Amino acid sequence: MCGIVGYIGDKDAYPIIIKGLQRLEYRGYDSAGIALSQGSDITILKQKGKVSDLEEYAADKNRKGTIGIGHTRWATHGVPNQKNAHPHSSGDGKLAIIHNGIIENYDSIKRMLSEKGHEFTSDTDTEVLIHLIEEIKNHEQCKLFEAVRLSLNEVIGAYAIVVMEEGNKEEFIAARKGSPLVIGIGAEEYFIASDATPIIEYTRDVVYLEDGEVARVNRNEKLEIKTISNIRKNPYIHELEMSLDSIEKGGYPHFMLKEIFEQPSSVLDTLRGRINPETKEVKLGGLMDYEQKLTKANRIIIVACGTSWHAGLIGEYLFEDLARIPVEVEYASEFRYRNPIIKENDIVLAISQSGETADTLAALELAKEKGSTILGICNVVGSSIARLTDAGVYTHAGPEIGVASTKAFTTQVAVLTLMALKIARLKGTITTSNFRNMITELEMISDNVEKVLKSNKLIKEVAAEFKNVQNFLYLGRGYNFPVALEGALKLKEISYIHAEGYPAAEMKHGPIALIDEEMPIVVIATKMGNYEKVVSNIQEVKARGGRLIAIVTEGDITVKELADYVIEIPECSEQLTPLLTNIPLQLLSYYIAVMRGCNVDQPRNLAKSVTVE
Ligand code: G6P
Repeated sequence: MCGIVGYIGDKDAYPIIIKGLQRLEYRGYDSAGIALSQGSDITILKQKGKVSDLEEYAADKNRKGTIGIGHTRWATHGVPNQKNAHPHSSGDGKLAIIHNGIIENYDSIKRMLSEKGHEFTSDTDTEVLIHLIEEIKNHEQCKLFEAVRLSLNEVIGAYAIVVMEEGNKEEFIAARKGSPLVIGIGAEEYFIASDATPIIEYTRDVVYLEDGEVARVNRNEKLEIKTISNIRKNPYIHELEMSLDSIEKGGYPHFMLKEIFEQPSSVLDTLRGRINPETKEVKLGGLMDYEQKLTKANRIIIVACGTSWHAGLIGEYLFEDLARIPVEVEYASEFRYRNPIIKENDIVLAISQSGETADTLAALELAKEKGSTILGICNVVGSSIARLTDAGVYTHAGPEIGVASTKAFTTQVAVLTLMALKIARLKGTITTSNFRNMITELEMISDNVEKVLKSNKLIKEVAAEFKNVQNFLYLGRGYNFPVALEGALKLKEISYIHAEGYPAAEMKHGPIALIDEEMPIVVIATKMGNYEKVVSNIQEVKARGGRLIAIVTEGDITVKELADYVIEIPECSEQLTPLLTNIPLQLLSYYIAVMRGCNVDQPRNLAKSVTVE
């Protein structure tokens, strides 16, 4: 969601910013723009559509400048068009701003500014903010740094902003609250972006701006950081660990396919160093100081959104089944607004790929305010959620660029499995033989994911058969009910086919009415768990003429006779099946979307990182 890129140095800013915006395309957006300066006037170029549309538009315009700020916008206030695209400028045209987030009190500020004679050319909250900065700068007769700081004291909402000024090619001002910003430090040059992907090819030294901080980024000086309430802060320089390869497509037609096929290695990376090869015990370094709290927990409340929420549901089965801890899984957006009851010995666990989802972050802040221990499972190292939580576990999936989450989900489930096993072992709620058995299976899981990926060709055939249908139903029970939900979500996200996930038995209470000869039904019917019950549900579907695609355990005979298509997964304990059953569903969605000509990596209206509520 909204991408920010900025550069100050002695190089041409335009190509650096365009490349950076392309690297941020995965976040989802509907217009793009750039502001450049050589020191005198600011040139603003912006266009509705993709970064390539902006490039085409800018091709015959002045693109000179050694300072520049660029933006991809995901519309919130005002439709996606050229006028609403960022950057926005002040009334006198001397200041330009890019902004990610929402200024909630923009309407009252706008009215106040209009009374003072300000005129606005867009429908955005962002334009109001730059006029406010201009007003305060003129009124207080202060420098831009101070004007931005003072203005932000008037603002309610979330933002990451970068502001540049006519006549100053050495400096821009940046600030954040609720939306991420990373500053890259080069040799007499600085970069700024919403995440590290546009920066990694230039420098590994970065400073993550904290909430409520304003930075003066001057290419001839050290970074100067203050809080909005005017307290000076020392910048802490982190070293980036991600590689450039990991953010490029590596020969695959889409990031999503690359990321699906990366799962054997990403799951391995998640497990690496967390199972002792000799003792076979689980070690989660990040949670070591919280082991006692976890074993004594009365309840774990999982907060998350989207695909991470589905991983949380699998976590519920794992923690309750193995570690005997009651679990509630909450949509972060609901949890944060319903005065939740959090008791002593409750633990709130956030799950988030990006570590930046606004609702999840706010849910955690609320839990913290209420005195709860807050833990996190995140993929992005150094992200806001990772920094806010008391402790946590990184998934180590590597950068996930495709908007539809795949490898992040699988690795979240892998971490939840490790956590549940660890707590179960500490509490003695699992027998040693069951524990050892699951550890052995976990050690083989990467090879088994690899085996499931070999069904690729068959899944492509299934996709060709069903690519034109209007609806899909996904059914599963127990551990595979959340997998059914995730399978349905994946399909609707990228192919725009309506799909619903249901607990297989619940089908009788509604969705069965939809079943006819046109309706494809994906059923997860692996051995163990509720196999016989699922077979009965399959009979119910067949009796109504539904077309069945079944995910079964290798060697299954019963379901094979009933289903139109059968995709096999290797045999494993029920608790580990989601790590395998979700993979054919990812591939099915991918191929159907490709065959329908959809933009798989950047589906319409969706954003990778939802930094507004
Ligand atoms: C967006 C993404 C989803 C993701 C959800 C939660 O909707 O498109 O793929 O599952 O946000 O994101 P998070 O980064 O918190 O896991």
